[in-house]
Amino acid sequence: MASVDDHERLRAVKAFDDTKAGVKGLVDAGVTTVPSIFHHPPESLPSSEVVVPAHRFTIPLIDLLAGVRADMVSALKVAAETVGFFQLVNHGVPDDLLAEMLASVRRFHESPAETKRPYYSRDHRRRVRYNSNFDLFTSPAANWRDTVFLELPPAPEEIPVACKAVAPEYARQVQRLGRTLFELLSEALGLNPSYLEEETMCLDRLSMGGHYYPACPEPHLTLGTTRHSDLSFLTVLLQDDVGGLQVLVDDDGNKQRPAWVDVPPVEGALVVNVGDYLQLMSNDRFKSVEHRVVANTVGPRVSAACFIRPCASSKKVLTPIVMDGDGGARYRSTMVEEMFRHYRVKGLDGTSSLQHFRI
Ligand code: OGA
Ligand code: NI
Repeated sequence: MASVDDHERLRAVKAFDDTKAGVKGLVDAGVTTVPSIFHHPPESLPSSEVVVPAHRFTIPLIDLLAGVRADMVSALKVAAETVGFFQLVNHGVPDDLLAEMLASVRRFHESPAETKRPYYSRDHRRRVRYNSNFDLFTSPAANWRDTVFLELPPAPEEIPVACKAVAPEYARQVQRLGRTLFELLSEALGLNPSYLEEETMCLDRLSMGGHYYPACPEPHLTLGTTRHSDLSFLTVLLQDDVGGLQVLVDDDGNKQRPAWVDVPPVEGALVVNVGDYLQLMSNDRFKSVEHRVVANTVGPRVSAACFIRPCASSKKVLTPIVMDGDGGARYRSTMVEEMFRHYRVKGLDGTSSLQHFRI
């Protein structure tokens, strides 16, 4: 039965949502404490956990222009099979476009509340949506961030002015990069280079989350983003120079329990990670690894996450590619739409949504 506290929390969540001004609205109103709907349980907060010192573990840095193709395939294979994350340099997306993309996300979030309000929505059928916490009503604790979601390409009249000049071109560049990565990762799986593109059929579109993490007055009480893995084949993330993204790794020095490691901002780099769809399809060969963003007194932090995946209502069925030595499929064949629904309803609660589809 719902307790009095649950009712209180729901009322506070609703009041916050009704402002349609997000966390940025709270900060603009001058809050000096973090409201309780954003409080995470102590065991989920950074202060209670092991963080691996940077010198003991680094996220692989891969240069797409260095070495021959076979070297690239093996570097990507190692990264995808272990930490599931890598930083890419010489990826071909021009530096000024990276800078403009971040600036446009910031511009959107820093535009007047009246400008943003019409976009405020959790209706995933809308191709442009702005909200704070897509899972505000389902997750146990809210995150200190706001997001504008763009399903690209949208009808031109739908794109907010702040992003109009940049987002479509940036999306084209990320799609081109996605095609290259799909080719290399197909080869890493021992398949024809065109395999992943043909099988996933999702490179003609892109889902982008433009995140804004305002400076937080009490970062020890909340998180920028709760630990989660991504619902995508691949995610291509552009982060600014503030930092705060962390990945959960198996630390060699401490076999007992995994630990958090920073993904430090690297000028000009894109962070790429394997998502749940690719872990399922590769039958666990490639890892969709959990990550989070810690809250920070420094801010705002801005990032743009591009999710390479089919649309939310896709009837496409994903089936694990079973290889010799796998001992059979580890997941049941699953429709994209079903995984989406499960992810959305569950919200970011600190558990993996892939478990639900495991055999
Ligand atoms: C995400 C995500 C990290 C970031 O959007 O799924 O993990 O740095 N974002 O904003
Ligand atoms: Ni993520």
